[in-house]
Amino acid sequence: MIRYASLFCAIVGIGLLLPTSASAAGCELEITGGDDMKYDKESMTASADCDEITVTLTHSGEMGAQQMGHNWVLTESDDFQEVAQAGQSTSLEQDYLPEDQSAIIAATEIIGGGEQTSVTFDGDAVEAGGDYTFFCSFPGHWGQMQGTFSVE
Ligand code: CO
Repeated sequence: MIRYASLFCAIVGIGLLLPTSASAAGCELEITGGDDMKYDKESMTASADCDEITVTLTHSGEMGAQQMGHNWVLTESDDFQEVAQAGQSTSLEQDYLPEDQSAIIAATEIIGGGEQTSVTFDGDAVEAGGDYTFFCSFPGHWGQMQGTFSVE
């Protein structure tokens, strides 16, 4: 009887733990940027179990894309500064992404206030324990609009 009781407790325990871990790291993530040139998150975590990861970006402000454009770009942290700097010299039509996009894991278009966009990428493109940075590639934004992206 004692064995069954402890087994029962273990199963109930796992059942209680699962919803918690699932809500902390998912496959559909959301982030918001506003007219204050800030994201509402400094870190994002995706689940290692995702076939695909979707990130939805909402611009909660009122300023247009030409004045206060935001996007969401993901690279390995080692590549972040080079990609961000190269992107500054392109154009809004190119979403301020560099010509060479080989280091970009995922990127949305640039949007203005009141708009929303998303990007879906292969879950295999990122790995648990990897060191990734997300940022806005609009000129002058990435110094402040950046954060860490991890997989667990
Ligand atoms: Co921005």
